[in-house]
Amino acid sequence: MQVFESILSIQKHLFPFCKEKSIAFVPTMGALHEGHLSLIKKAKKENDLVVVSIFINPTQFDNDADLIKYPRTIDADLDLLKKVDCDIVFIPTVEEIYAKNINSQHFNFGGIEHEMEGKFRDGHFDGVGTIVKRLFEIVKPNTAYFGEKDFQQLQIIKKLVAIERLPIKVVGCAIFREKDGLAMSSRNTRLTSEYRDAAPFIYKILKKAKKKFLTKSAKKVSKWVKKKFKKHPILKLEYFVIADEETLKEVLKKKKNKDYRAFLAVFAGEIRLIDNLSL
Ligand code: PAF
Repeated sequence: MQVFESILSIQKHLFPFCKEKSIAFVPTMGALHEGHLSLIKKAKKENDLVVVSIFINPTQFDNDADLIKYPRTIDADLDLLKKVDCDIVFIPTVEEIYAKNINSQHFNFGGIEHEMEGKFRDGHFDGVGTIVKRLFEIVKPNTAYFGEKDFQQLQIIKKLVAIERLPIKVVGCAIFREKDGLAMSSRNTRLTSEYRDAAPFIYKILKKAKKKFLTKSAKKVSKWVKKKFKKHPILKLEYFVIADEETLKEVLKKKKNKDYRAFLAVFAGEIRLIDNLSL
């Protein structure tokens, strides 16, 4: 496994491969868990070379405390990457990526950026678009892999590739869950034991909502979910939305041949958790 910190050195290394080998890319912010590893294993199976980036992107954080406290576990990450036989790791500094201009480009993703996470995390998707575009330009992968836990992000990146006409296939991968149902996330390590014990409630409610959606309207299901969270002693619901998977717009009336998904964001103390489930 080779580790690169500068853009020039990784590009020099990748250049001879780019014509005859398929390059897969898994961008991450580190604090790797089984969810990330499942993306890397899939990428390995489907390509000749796998590049993983570890970069905590400052421009996608709408909250300074979240950025400062974001888990940083680089030694453990590198050990895990070796174990799954990752070929290349890219660990640039903030300066390497942004030079002196730590700002986002503004994107128009056709409206999906204003739904759900977009309503609560100001500038988040401009930050994600900026860094993913930059990393795509550096690595020039054939295929890039993203987890469905950040389903809205996955749709935004598919739009980014279309808008920028990048020759990159974007692959979404199923959410990886702990045994008790909690969606794997780097932020889970920051949960206190009280909140960690409470957190599986999120997936339980999503599964019940899915069942209810078979016979009830989106409005009724949403009302039921909100009531359940109101009664919860410590978890605080930020939003629950049943949306069309493509437009990410809230469903007002169910239609046939549409794919719907339930999305939520929950505060477990100061840790914000998101999850979703296809309905
Ligand atoms: O999902 C993440 O970890 C980040 O948003 C990403 C895609 C690596 C961009 O910083």
